[in-house]
Amino acid sequence: MSMLPRIIGHRGAKESAPENTLASLREAVRQGVRWIEIDVMLTRDRVPVLIHDDRLDRTTDGTGAVADLDLADLRRLDAGSWFDPRFAGETVPTLDECLDFVIGEGLGLNMEIKPYPGHEVATAEAAIALLRRRWPTDLPPPLLSSFETVCLEVAQLQAPDWPRGYLMWEPPSDWATIADRLGATTLNVEQSRQTAESVAAYRATGRPVLVYTVNDPTRARELFGWGVTSIFTDAPGRVAAALSTSRT
Ligand code: G3P
Ligand code: MG
Repeated sequence: MSMLPRIIGHRGAKESAPENTLASLREAVRQGVRWIEIDVMLTRDRVPVLIHDDRLDRTTDGTGAVADLDLADLRRLDAGSWFDPRFAGETVPTLDECLDFVIGEGLGLNMEIKPYPGHEVATAEAAIALLRRRWPTDLPPPLLSSFETVCLEVAQLQAPDWPRGYLMWEPPSDWATIADRLGATTLNVEQSRQTAESVAAYRATGRPVLVYTVNDPTRARELFGWGVTSIFTDAPGRVAAALSTSRT
């Protein structure tokens, strides 16, 4: 993947706006990023929407499991007030709505497939099918990523020509074999676990290394110094300014 940016807006611009909302995506663009990361999960009626947690409680005024609500009910929830009253009225966006914005702006997209437990295959199938239908051929292909290897297997079948990011938290000992089996394009790893050696080991497989979530510019500089290709950050404008980079 030659077109990866240095900085990817994490859930939009999570430090400045309620994560995974259209307001957050707009804020990320306002701060200068050209690539954003989103988390996608299914409603009960199997509509892909942008939300991180299995439950509604932290990022909306609703309660309970995301997978227990149809889209029509989810749409009635406020996904902005918890962050700041000035975001009152923000809703949980559908992936379709998100794509209106992302494609309209000509942005790069990392769609993280974040299935409700037990819904791995259905989530990957629905989200990728929608993206296949809508993604324009004149934009760089989206990066599909997941912690769930079964979701990446679906991606391999359904979008073999699109890049896949193998997301790891605590990497399994056989991560390199798994990455090969999945045909992973990138390795997306957690920032606090990285050392010069770990990054070198990932890079030795020939794959770009993407690191989440990096909000400290000093740490970002260190990671880039070790050969990391991209960072996911909640604060793209602040981090880019501190790094004095225009290559966002
Ligand atoms: O895709 C990078 C990062 O978003 C993975 O972790 O929990 O923030 O979705 P999480
Ligand atoms: Mg994510």
